[in-house]
Amino acid sequence: MTLAFESVAEARAWLYEQRACGLRIGFVPTMGALHEGHLDLVRRAARENDLAIVSVFVNPLQFNDPKDYAAYPRTFAEDVRLLATAGCAMAFTGTLAQFFPHELDAAGKLNAAHQVPPGAAALGLEGAMRPGHFEGVAAIVDRLFETVLPDTAYFGAKDYQQAQVVLGLARRRGGPRVVVCPTVREASGLALSSRNARLSVEDRQRAAQIYQALRAGQAAWDAGVRDADALRSSVLLVLQRTPEFRIEYVAVRDPSRWTAEEPHGAMQQAVCLVALWLSGVRLIDNLRWDAPA
Ligand code: PAJ
Repeated sequence: MTLAFESVAEARAWLYEQRACGLRIGFVPTMGALHEGHLDLVRRAARENDLAIVSVFVNPLQFNDPKDYAAYPRTFAEDVRLLATAGCAMAFTGTLAQFFPHELDAAGKLNAAHQVPPGAAALGLEGAMRPGHFEGVAAIVDRLFETVLPDTAYFGAKDYQQAQVVLGLARRRGGPRVVVCPTVREASGLALSSRNARLSVEDRQRAAQIYQALRAGQAAWDAGVRDADALRSSVLLVLQRTPEFRIEYVAVRDPSRWTAEEPHGAMQQAVCLVALWLSGVRLIDNLRWDAPA
């Protein structure tokens, strides 16, 4: 059974008691509309800890587009039902004012003094395309960590840059331990995402080409190609076969040395990141090429 709290104070009080018993806490922050990608993180948190805790909060601070925020699905009751099947002990939600009781201005924005710097991993790509996004993510993740005080927190590699931002944040604040889990995909290769629900059957088939493109880059990498521009072109070539895609970026980065700008020349390590629009839905995906599959 999964306990569900709809207020931050109740969740905090319950967690306080569990920690007093010395229980190890694994934490999975989410925005709800849960799918197998989320549940995979929850199952791992349950396996590796005494308690798996999940937050479900559509964080307005990280949406740069108010329409996207309004359209984001909110299905807490259904989420709790799914979480019960994945070994989650407690799920909670709350309001922005509950998370930040003293830190919001009249417009509902965080006061400057309470902003949490998202660090260098927020530069470029998602950070450039979605101004304020990682500032919002850093603020809520910091506050969630403070609320739950987990031993270990679990994030998905699906949101590559976010995972890097969170790793940096956890390092600076001295915890928790952060585990980044592999992207869960449909059989077609399409990365699971709450936004996929907004795609038609045909668009879902088209969207699977994103992974095919990332794999084409992998094949080039495996064949010994190391030039950043050549690698990027091998991905772009596949994406361009689907005219319905409106590509925002196809980027190659050295994961050991994040840069806002595209690197040129030979890569020693590489992750490829893609963002594109399909029928009004923004999709992102990435693949680390130098890691074993
Ligand atoms: P959300 O998009 O709900 O994702 C919650 C977690 O699930 C994130 O760590 C995300 O990377 C992971 N995830 C999503 N799809 C996945 C997939 N296909 N495979 C593996 N993991 C996947 O990311 C957020 O919420 C928010 O920004 C949040 C961190 C909760 C802060 O508000």
